[in-house]
Amino acid sequence: MTDTMPNPTTLPAFAERHIGPDDAQVAQMLAVIGRSSLDDLTAVAVPDAIRATDAMGIVPADSESAVVEELRGLAARNRVLTSMIGLGYYGTLTPAVIQRNVLENPAWYTAYTPYQPEISQGRLEALLNFQTVVSDLTGLSTAGASLLDEATAAAEAMTLMRRSSKAAKDAVLVVDEAVFPQTLAVMRTRAVPLGIEVVVADLTGVTTGEALTEAAGGRDVFGVLVQYPDLHGRLRDHRALAEAAHGAGALVTAAADLMALTLATAPGEWGADIAVGTTQRFGVPMAFGGPHAGYMSVRSGLERTLPGRLVGVSVDVTGAPAYRLALQTREQHIRREKATSNICTAQVLLAVMASMYAVYHGPRGLRAIALRIHAHATTLAGALREGGVDVDSEPGFDTLSVSVPGRADEVVAAALAEGANLWRHDGDTVLLSLDETTDHDDLAKVCRAFGVSEPGRVTIEEPEWDGALLRTSDYLTHPVFTSHHSETAMLRYLRRLSDRDFALDRGMIPLGSCTMKLNATTEMLAITWPEFANLHPFAPLDQTEGIRHLIDELSQWLCDITGYDAVSLQPNAGSQGELSGLLAIAGYHRSQGDVERTVCLIPASAHGTNAASAVMAGMKVVVVKTAEITGNVDMDDLKAKVEQHRDQLAAIMVTYPSTHGVFEDTITDLCAMVHDAGGQVYVDGANLNALVGLAQPGRFGADVSHLNLHKTFCIPHGGGGPGVGPVACREHLAPFLPNHPLDAEAGPQTGVGPVSAAPYGSAGILPISWAYVRLMGASGLRRATEVAVLNANYVATRLRDHYPVLYSGEGGLVAHECILDVRPLTKETGVSVDDIAKRLVDYGFHAPTMSFPVAGTLMVEPTESEDKVELDRFCDAMIAIRAEIDAVGASGNAATSVLRGAPHTAQSLAGDWDVEYSRQDAAYPPGVDPLAKYWPPVRRIDGAYGDRHLVCSCPPPEAFED
Ligand SMILES: Cc1ncc(COP(=O)(O)O)c(C=O)c1O
Repeated sequence: MTDTMPNPTTLPAFAERHIGPDDAQVAQMLAVIGRSSLDDLTAVAVPDAIRATDAMGIVPADSESAVVEELRGLAARNRVLTSMIGLGYYGTLTPAVIQRNVLENPAWYTAYTPYQPEISQGRLEALLNFQTVVSDLTGLSTAGASLLDEATAAAEAMTLMRRSSKAAKDAVLVVDEAVFPQTLAVMRTRAVPLGIEVVVADLTGVTTGEALTEAAGGRDVFGVLVQYPDLHGRLRDHRALAEAAHGAGALVTAAADLMALTLATAPGEWGADIAVGTTQRFGVPMAFGGPHAGYMSVRSGLERTLPGRLVGVSVDVTGAPAYRLALQTREQHIRREKATSNICTAQVLLAVMASMYAVYHGPRGLRAIALRIHAHATTLAGALREGGVDVDSEPGFDTLSVSVPGRADEVVAAALAEGANLWRHDGDTVLLSLDETTDHDDLAKVCRAFGVSEPGRVTIEEPEWDGALLRTSDYLTHPVFTSHHSETAMLRYLRRLSDRDFALDRGMIPLGSCTMKLNATTEMLAITWPEFANLHPFAPLDQTEGIRHLIDELSQWLCDITGYDAVSLQPNAGSQGELSGLLAIAGYHRSQGDVERTVCLIPASAHGTNAASAVMAGMKVVVVKTAEITGNVDMDDLKAKVEQHRDQLAAIMVTYPSTHGVFEDTITDLCAMVHDAGGQVYVDGANLNALVGLAQPGRFGADVSHLNLHKTFCIPHGGGGPGVGPVACREHLAPFLPNHPLDAEAGPQTGVGPVSAAPYGSAGILPISWAYVRLMGASGLRRATEVAVLNANYVATRLRDHYPVLYSGEGGLVAHECILDVRPLTKETGVSVDDIAKRLVDYGFHAPTMSFPVAGTLMVEPTESEDKVELDRFCDAMIAIRAEIDAVGASGNAATSVLRGAPHTAQSLAGDWDVEYSRQDAAYPPGVDPLAKYWPPVRRIDGAYGDRHLVCSCPPPEAFED
């Protein structure tokens, strides 16, 4: 049976909680925009040619309690054993104070990427702590604010080394053979379209330039990557290798384990230029593969080439230190096809967790944890050896490589019977990794599996490594890492930081293109249940039945919703979905013998990640104009470009509805034109919140799309991640979706290789989207879309007389967002979009999206979750600001206005007051409830200052003194 009822009176109970406006408010808003019903609204707004008339085949919605029960049933079908699989994923003890007050706290998880730094100081400080942890432990001067996972971070390091090395154009990357298999596989996926050759070699004993060249098969080398400690657990001194590589003009990357680095010499100290890895074992559950924060740090001189986001220290107008994203010019929006990476959404929430784990434990605590892990590993190794088992004797940290000729399967099975998962490396070798959760019982299990006597007591001792391997340098010496070790202090620190930030738990975040809708508590519940949270991504199939069933169901529902035939949940951000979709297109053309098809048409209004992804997929970007008046894709220019590149046309990449917030009625013609020329159509599905239940890209002409589950399907933004960017496609592209070397079920055999470290990417947060669909059913999902369109049109209608709405479609209607044109006002009065955005903070709002996709405009996306009261509060604030702009117009003095002075801190009111507006106007403009006032912690920040004086780790406390 399928749920097809769009009748509001029979909406699932949860839908009425998720959707802000009730029937009465919907009626009032429809009256304001002059439409008789939601059907009437969408009949006009959505072009007939794409409207889907048949129902989505989704099971009927259930109540919140029933859905939680169903999730409990799925959880019960997972079996969590003691994981000793390792390979970059380890058991960890998430401090309860961090789990409850970060991961489960909407003040942290519902925040947006900190583009408005004045209202993001809390998470920016947490990210700066993260950067300091990574930079200190790796011994490299600058670390970024998180990447997607270890494998993609290694792929980013590969391209960074290629860009920074002066080695010959055809030089190769040499990867040590003892690297994690998924890391190698992701690097290979990413190397192919860029024409980078990856050579895998045993780098043992490679200490000269000649030996390196020999390992590279006689080729020049631009980069070397080693795992530290390596796959077999061996900790090696790479000084001579690094020197040899540098002598040959190559850079060196260490894929390093941060926990090991509390004891082992930092990569930056033995000569690595770059370090990458994951911070998962710093308190972030394995979660069947993710999400976790990947990291990258670089030596001095490479900081301006770092991919992803970087937090830096700057000053506000009063000269007080303030944090903000540094070097924003690296954003894809500005650099587009020249961007060096397509990373947009990263892993902020998990980076915050990892940083807080370091803050809570401090350097001594971390070292103690590492020593305990190491002591368990050496005790176990001793017991095994005593029983006659052959354990690799090279220095190691937490992983044992055990030789059991011909008996690996038998040993793994015996361990399984004891309740532990070991890793079968090959028929003769078993690997096992210990972690913070390992205790004596676990050692006993392993000993029984190998048929040897249990070990004696574990005694904690310093590692008995060669001096070159032993860390002697300090780390985490900043006071923040020694000030919050009691739970009281930690709780208050977390509260203090989150109080500085504006997240959805305070008010509307009307960010266009970001879909900041409700992330319901029920949807979030299951992600921290141990049955989901503690699964290793490479755990045996029969231990992961529940999560796999959930993945299958969600995949099917996403196909039902989009009209596509196949989906891969592996990409862990929209950007990675884009890359996967384009790789599928490239694979398809190759299979047809069309190797010349490499041109990707991208409209000028596209999101910057589109162009960056196309380049990463080995395509050449050709920009299609957008028409000046309508903002639509210029069909004449498209026609000309299609003709010009007919034989090389690989694809067009369009966003639908467009990033201009309009349902373009030419979309079917556009698809036909590109198909006719032999190209494929990629529809960027980031705006799917305007389509669900109304139109299906897979049916109206598109071949492939990525979806952003962290937009349409309720995964919270987490302050800039995690995300999930599934790629969905029609049948002919399905053979070219991602797959995974360690999980045959995770994609087609013919696939293009993995694009994420884990087979199902950020699998740990998929229960959120699964629950959303189960709670809404087809009727609830469709109603959500209709109300999202209604809310956007209501805002557009209320604000149109005050700020021109730049683009609209049929009947003057917009889709799910609208662009307010501030340019004429700026020209007349000097008041900029920045001034309006910062002034909105005084009114208690997060700003809309600024200057995307059109410079000098604000893009508003209210989503269906905001009710009329909140929409009116926002519209009233915008209208009041318009009156303030008019006053500036009359006085001619923008520089001294309340708008330019915004935002106003509480402290600013207490000092001298020599400006021409009152304290009342500054802090309590009309409509602000004094009892609900949000106070920004800093005044307006000078971004350029911070870029000129780049500081990307914790500043000394004195910097904050008056
Ligand atoms: C239209 C569009 N495409 C692609 C993306 C990239 O998605 P992600 O940030 O998840 O990488 C975004 C993100 O904001 C977007 O708005």
